[in-house]
Amino acid sequence: MAQNLQDALRNRRSHYSLSPASPISDEAIKDIIDFAVTHVPSAFNSQSTRIVLLLGENHRRLWDITKDTLRPLVPAKAFPATEAKIDGSFRNGHGTILFFEDRAIVEQLQAAYPLYADRFPTWAQHTSAMHQLAIWAMLEDAGLGVSLQHYNPLIDEAVNREWQLSPQWELIAQMPFGTSTAQSGEKTFTSLEERVKVFG
Ligand SMILES: Cc1cc2nc3c(=O)[nH]c(=O)nc-3n(C[C@H](O)[C@H](O)[C@H](O)COP(=O)(O)O)c2cc1C
Repeated sequence: MAQNLQDALRNRRSHYSLSPASPISDEAIKDIIDFAVTHVPSAFNSQSTRIVLLLGENHRRLWDITKDTLRPLVPAKAFPATEAKIDGSFRNGHGTILFFEDRAIVEQLQAAYPLYADRFPTWAQHTSAMHQLAIWAMLEDAGLGVSLQHYNPLIDEAVNREWQLSPQWELIAQMPFGTSTAQSGEKTFTSLEERVKVFG
């Protein structure tokens, strides 16, 4: 990483206005994902996170699937705005990373550790979130603009069918990225006193 971890976390933002160029190669993007999948921790070292990197036509196909899914669900009057947002932002990027958690692994853990059975689905969500932040910060550090989207569960079936993924892979989040073409908005912070307590 070019920046230290604190700088990378401070500089990570949501970028919604994207162009398709990338300042780094697709291999370098794959390396970032491989690094996170190797080193980010998981509950019980379960390594339940699954990732799909969509580039080029496959990336655009994801956002076409999303539009096709939303079209019959969104009021006709509102759909042009939805379509404009998807086309102008996410679909116009360089790629999208899909984050899944493998239910097969979660079920194995539930069977192996019945005492914690009801906790494992939540811990899988936590595990995914850790991967999301690591990849988000590393992509931004590499000069890409990134955001985090949740069109699941609406698009789950169509996505798993399109890329022939295991039905046990549960879609958790979509991370479109590209070259950011606009500054991120001003960000406000609520008081740390309300959010952090120290007893010592
Ligand atoms: C768990 C989580 C879920 C989010 N879901 C969405 C989402 O579905 N769509 C979206 O546009 N942004 C989503 N975001 C982005 C947040 O709105 C954003 O991170 C927050 O407003 C702070 O802005 P920043 O990312 O520029 O620092 C999500 C962020 C987190 C951490």
